Amino acid sequence: MNNLNKDTKEITEVILKAKEKAYAELDTGAESEFVRNVKWPVDCVVGPGLEGAIACESKVGYVNGSKGWLVYRGYNIFDLCAYSSFEEVSYLLLYGKLPTENQLKKFKEKLKGYRNIPKTIRLLSSFPVQDMNAMGAVRLGTNLMRQECTFVDKKEYKPDVKTAISADEDSIPMETRPMGERKAIYSLKQAEGITRPSGLSKDLHMPVGFEPALHLISGIPTIAGAVARLRVGELPLNPDPELSHAGNLIYMITGRKPTPVEERIMDISLILHADHGMNASTFATMVVASTLSDLYFAVGSGIAALNGSLHGGANERVVKMLSEIGDSKNVKKWYKKKTAKKEKISGFGHRVYKAYDPRARVLGPLAHFLVKSESDKKIAGLFKVAQELEKEVVSTLGEKKKVFPNVDFYSGIVYSCLDIPTELFTPIFAVSRVSGWTARVLEYLKNNRIFRPRAVYSGPLEEKYVPLNKRK
Ligand SMILES: CC(C)(COP(=O)(O)OP(=O)(O)OC[C@H]1O[C@@H](n2cnc3c(N)ncnc32)[C@H](O)[C@@H]1OP(=O)(O)O)[C@@H](O)C(=O)NCCC(=O)NCCS
Repeated sequence: MNNLNKDTKEITEVILKAKEKAYAELDTGAESEFVRNVKWPVDCVVGPGLEGAIACESKVGYVNGSKGWLVYRGYNIFDLCAYSSFEEVSYLLLYGKLPTENQLKKFKEKLKGYRNIPKTIRLLSSFPVQDMNAMGAVRLGTNLMRQECTFVDKKEYKPDVKTAISADEDSIPMETRPMGERKAIYSLKQAEGITRPSGLSKDLHMPVGFEPALHLISGIPTIAGAVARLRVGELPLNPDPELSHAGNLIYMITGRKPTPVEERIMDISLILHADHGMNASTFATMVVASTLSDLYFAVGSGIAALNGSLHGGANERVVKMLSEIGDSKNVKKWYKKKTAKKEKISGFGHRVYKAYDPRARVLGPLAHFLVKSESDKKIAGLFKVAQELEKEVVSTLGEKKKVFPNVDFYSGIVYSCLDIPTELFTPIFAVSRVSGWTARVLEYLKNNRIFRPRAVYSGPLEEKYVPLNKRK
């Protein structure tokens, strides 16, 4: 990442300004009761859906919602955004400390090796991805990634148009011949060899230790890129080893090499979304992993959870909402109508944050930075609407109801500036969050205990069984 570039230096300044503002407004009161060592069994006040329940102890990351504060392994999110990269942050989350130069170099090389998942992409291309929900396709791709580890990687393995798919033990028969299959296989045949991740022994069926985490962190962006391309009838692109994780993601989705500014801003967005406490998708991933199912299945569950409209996806709705409002002049009237109907405004409020979301503190100014250099008038218009709407919502609900912009309010505008199609917004969330998911699972597995909360039964106990033919 070219941090010396003048424009990317300006981005660092933007982040440091956001940090300054956050510190100036920071409530310096005592730290919450959720920073401590846990002595089991533990007393806590629990609401429905396990709200408030303490499920585990973790050193991966911490959110203080009432202060609007987020740290990964003790480092505040502003410093990580200003000085770090997604690769470095992933290392930090997984291994618990910042890497040395040499460790980071090796880690990046490893991630680059794992980006090549030709078998997965070939199989994924045989599905009608253009008819699938993008998150569904990413989840499918993640489960297909297990294939990269379950086949014996003999030198003679070559994708074959006639047999490669049908001969595979885990292939799923398709009734219709899906779009892109032939072309995709052909294109992969043209690719320069198949990279077997170097750390795997020849006949290993499943990588062990941290390897599946690295495989997933690298592979999911390749899947997201393939999904973006297949959905518009284009062939998936091979990852570019010259590009960073963030740069390669933009390249594989859009087909164009990003500028240093675009690469840096995507990198920051990936850092911002990498971990966020025991949110629903992290919990889903951990629950599956706690059964000693493997990390591929576990991460597939995280993706499934993230797909729900109460979790990922609000940024898609924000962009739609801003487009509907159309012009900053319409904001007041539109907002009045929505509040009269007691409707929630997308991109505002948060289950955990009852202060300004620190991620929005970074993304708002970054959206502004990007929009200033954008020639696209439509996106500039959306940003103006967003600024106006933020003023309205914060002045009416900010102090009164602790409702402020959340991470999703500006991320959609940022992604639109980077030419990312709207339906890829949530998959990009998964691309980033996989670091947090896997870090937390690997930490939890050290002292694994299968998750097993209880439900309180409130039904009858002594019903008399009535034979089928006697029931009314
Ligand atoms: C995320 C969300 C579900 C959090 O809900 P929550 O924790 O139940 O919120 P709270 O109970 O603290 O809300 C407090 C009050 O603010 C109001 N409020 C919360 N978010 C609001 C929003 N986006 N727009 C308008 N009012 C909102 C609530 O209606 C509530 O009002 P009340 O006291 O009159 O009942 C909610 O803010 C929301 O639906 N936001 C929009 C969707 C979104 O952006 N989601 C992505 C989150 S990353």
